Amino acid sequence: MADELLKIVDQRTNSSYELPLSKGAIRAADLKKIKTGPEDSGVVSYDPAFLNTAACQSSITFIDGDKGILRYRGYPIEQLAEKCTFLEVAYLILHGELPTETQLENWVKDIKSHTMLHEKTKSFLEGFNHDAHPMGMFISTLAALSTLYPEARKVRDPEVRKLQIRRLVGKVPTIAAYTYRHSLGFPYVYPDNDLSYTENFMNMLWRMVEPKYQANPVLSRALDILFILHADHEQNCSANVMRAVGSSEADPYVATAAAAAALSGPLHGGANEEVLKMLDEIGSKDRVPAYIERVKAGQFKLMGFGHRIYKNYDPRARIIKWAADQVFVATGRNPKLDIALELEKVALEDEYFIKRKLYPNVDFYSGIIYQALGFKPDLFTVLFAIPRTVGWLAQWQDMLDDPEQKIARPRQIYTGYAARDFVPIEKRAARPVGAAR
Ligand SMILES: CC(C)(COP(=O)(O)OP(=O)(O)OC[C@H]1O[C@@H](n2cnc3c(N)ncnc32)[C@H](O)[C@@H]1OP(=O)(O)O)[C@@H](O)C(=O)NCCC(=O)NCCS
Repeated sequence: MADELLKIVDQRTNSSYELPLSKGAIRAADLKKIKTGPEDSGVVSYDPAFLNTAACQSSITFIDGDKGILRYRGYPIEQLAEKCTFLEVAYLILHGELPTETQLENWVKDIKSHTMLHEKTKSFLEGFNHDAHPMGMFISTLAALSTLYPEARKVRDPEVRKLQIRRLVGKVPTIAAYTYRHSLGFPYVYPDNDLSYTENFMNMLWRMVEPKYQANPVLSRALDILFILHADHEQNCSANVMRAVGSSEADPYVATAAAAAALSGPLHGGANEEVLKMLDEIGSKDRVPAYIERVKAGQFKLMGFGHRIYKNYDPRARIIKWAADQVFVATGRNPKLDIALELEKVALEDEYFIKRKLYPNVDFYSGIIYQALGFKPDLFTVLFAIPRTVGWLAQWQDMLDDPEQKIARPRQIYTGYAARDFVPIEKRAARPVGAAR
């Protein structure tokens, strides 16, 4: 129900319209009423890259980009990172409430009962070159799971959905670890369900011949915190892909694979890997000012800086900086941190960055801490995808349960030729490609 009305005067016709305004939004479909005559199909809103368009109502994640606030289901990210385990936060995101002790125990047991992969998965992975990017293997393996669980197509069945959600949350660390072992040519390590979610992931990555893997508790807690920070981020590029693909009622494995594909780009989850490459390229603190000048000259972007929503310090970056200090006590300091700190200092004092409100984002420090934890840069985006699977699945459920949602299908403003007659090939003159633009 509308809270207020927005009055619009169409100067073409001198007609005025009152559009219902609810929670600060008008319905774009109401603009259709504004037309010059019966032939006119009405006004559309034009918003490339969704700069100012809400595509859904959601109660999962709240972000205030100007104030630097992030909350899952109302709880501040700082409190969740300090007090919860990743699986507890995953429960919160997917179910809407923090679990009781019994609920958490059952949830953890449920997830652990789905950590194994079908043995066939190994043969999919065998098809990849040893130097295949782990994210490519991860995305393809996720999609391939769809062929192993055909019942997953019944996306309207709540019980089927529940099972696939548990399977996906349980299996993504195993897929991620297998891609890593494949790239090294090491045998795959089966899940050890005595261990926590993150400890087991570390076990599947790094166990060699020892009978039982023992994770360093400081490092496994740091990884758990990183997972919490990455679990959801409302309507970001990959969440939007998850919803769009899911809206066609495609199964959750292929939808999650599509979301992971969106995440792999350097402007989204691929940025953390790019940050490390950038820090390597800079090499030392004294070369920071010259690098910043090149960014300002428009030669390239400062990776790990800037955000569509945050026009303030990304709260996740602050927590990662804190977690990095704990990790460095156990591992020794990563020398790249000094270059990153200097970059941050120089950038935050520079008019170019101040004017555009460009601050460090989650990816600025995450690569440094991942490297200190022992991860290779090409696994960084996969490390982002593991916890984000929870967010994607919550967004997917939200979309399916929302009676207002339909198959996602944006409009366009056609700018091509008007109707023209076909020209036989012998009569065609060569035209530059894209001549219509
Ligand atoms: C995240 C990102 C894609 C957001 O993009 P966006 O919301 O479309 O912002 P825009 O590209 O419109 O940026 C606005 C202005 O800031 C500049 N800008 C944005 N990010 C910048 C960066 N990292 N380095 C230098 N300049 C940057 C743009 O060039 C633009 O300048 P202009 O107004 O002079 O043209 C963008 O900031 C970026 O590419 N950052 C680096 C990649 C990264 O860290 N991604 C991880 C995101 S969690």
